[in-house]
Amino acid sequence: MPPTAAPVLTAATAPGALPVLGHGHRLLRGPVGFLSSLHEHGDLVAVRLGPTTAHVPCHPGLLAQVLGDDRLFDKGGVFYDRARDVAGNGLVTCPHRDHRRQRRLVQPAFRRPQLAHYADAMRAEADAAAAGWRPGLAVDAFPVFYGIALRTLARTLYSTAIGAELASGVERSFDTVLNGLFRQMFLPAPVRRLPLPGNLRYRRALARLHAATRQLVAAHRDGGAGNGTDLLSALLAAEDGPDGGRLSDAEVHDQVITLLAAGTETVAATLTWTLWRLSLHPAAAEQVRAELDAVLPGGRAPGPEDLPRLAAVDRVVSETLRLHPPGWLFTRVTTAPTELAGRELPSGTTLVFSPLAVARHPAAHRSPAVFDPDRWRPERVTPAARQAFLPFGTGARKCVGDLFARTECALVLASLLSRWQLVPEPGADLRPVPLATVLRPRRLRLRVAER
Ligand code: HEM
Repeated sequence: MPPTAAPVLTAATAPGALPVLGHGHRLLRGPVGFLSSLHEHGDLVAVRLGPTTAHVPCHPGLLAQVLGDDRLFDKGGVFYDRARDVAGNGLVTCPHRDHRRQRRLVQPAFRRPQLAHYADAMRAEADAAAAGWRPGLAVDAFPVFYGIALRTLARTLYSTAIGAELASGVERSFDTVLNGLFRQMFLPAPVRRLPLPGNLRYRRALARLHAATRQLVAAHRDGGAGNGTDLLSALLAAEDGPDGGRLSDAEVHDQVITLLAAGTETVAATLTWTLWRLSLHPAAAEQVRAELDAVLPGGRAPGPEDLPRLAAVDRVVSETLRLHPPGWLFTRVTTAPTELAGRELPSGTTLVFSPLAVARHPAAHRSPAVFDPDRWRPERVTPAARQAFLPFGTGARKCVGDLFARTECALVLASLLSRWQLVPEPGADLRPVPLATVLRPRRLRLRVAER
């Protein structure tokens, strides 16, 4: 008798797959419920995205293991393949082999002293957006915060000296590109190449975005623009060690687009979800109000030096990021055969990394579905809770803008909530709209009221 081969374990497949679409419909119609329930089927669960089978690590420890080995679980798969069309070989999309050098060159632009310069832009943009607000006015939350985040990033990237026309050209094209990107991710290659109106609009906007960004970089390189403290100047000046390797213009171009793509919708979605959550939890809102009154008496404008005392604001943002992580779907591809959770994965296997798949894991939290900012009080937070908190990822590919984003969220919230109450209008529709970089609520209008 031939010897019996050791059984090859395969991961459990999530229920509810349809022919052809696989789990695509569940992912698009109810992404939060679908991704957060996967752990019920195992630590590593297979899902079908059209023709591709992808594996989702659903246990916090397993996901940390995957994100901790970016050589074996490299960037790749449907998300990153399309994101490269937009952001080239920038810091988010580049493979492991290019990553360490890029990270060393980009990281200094995100250190605390640099952040202090950016904080002025964050506060100024929040103030400018709210300058025309009057009691009774209703504003569309996500578009307002998207505008604040995009203009803040544009200001921190190129400073104010850059031609306003050029900067707004980048912003306009960028809007169309971000809106089209998600569709491009799910269209089969032959359909993407057809001259359909949506494809043409997307390609034209992408070409404009790339051309305008090239001009911006050249203007900064020539020294005719920027004030020396902006992000773009920091990227151009960065040197990799004493031998002085620098980012080329093409590399800086990819980083600029990368930062715009990574840092706008994500921040806007966080602010939108935070205000909605606060409106449902009067006790948390009261804690925030009391803290703002104590730290910013008389509605004084907040600065980065106030952040250590805005602990209640910070906890509310953390809890919102846990339950509504804006970046909801990223992919990885194995670069060699490996075993994960007792399953054999051949080289080239696609994995899905979603912070949602682990955020509500029962191993990490009691009552995981409940919004409870106090679970982030230092005396209550546990190592398991920390491990499952992955809205910014972890390991070598962890978000380089995490501190930037948290600073911006805290300053914008402090700036607005020290002056106004923002109350949801009836008819809000909180079903998440899946976009390439975020899940955001379908419709949330906030009425501005006196405090
Ligand atoms: C709340 C806001 C944000 C969230 C939730 C967020 C989330 C993430 C996540 C999950 C990753 C890891 C992706 C992966 O491992 O595949 C990431 C990477 C990255 N993010 Fe963010 N991000 C935010 C804001 C920002 C901002 C404001 C910037 C810059 C201005 C930024 C720049 C980047 C970059 C450059 C990377 C790639 C880092 C690397 O691979 O070395 N992000 N972000």
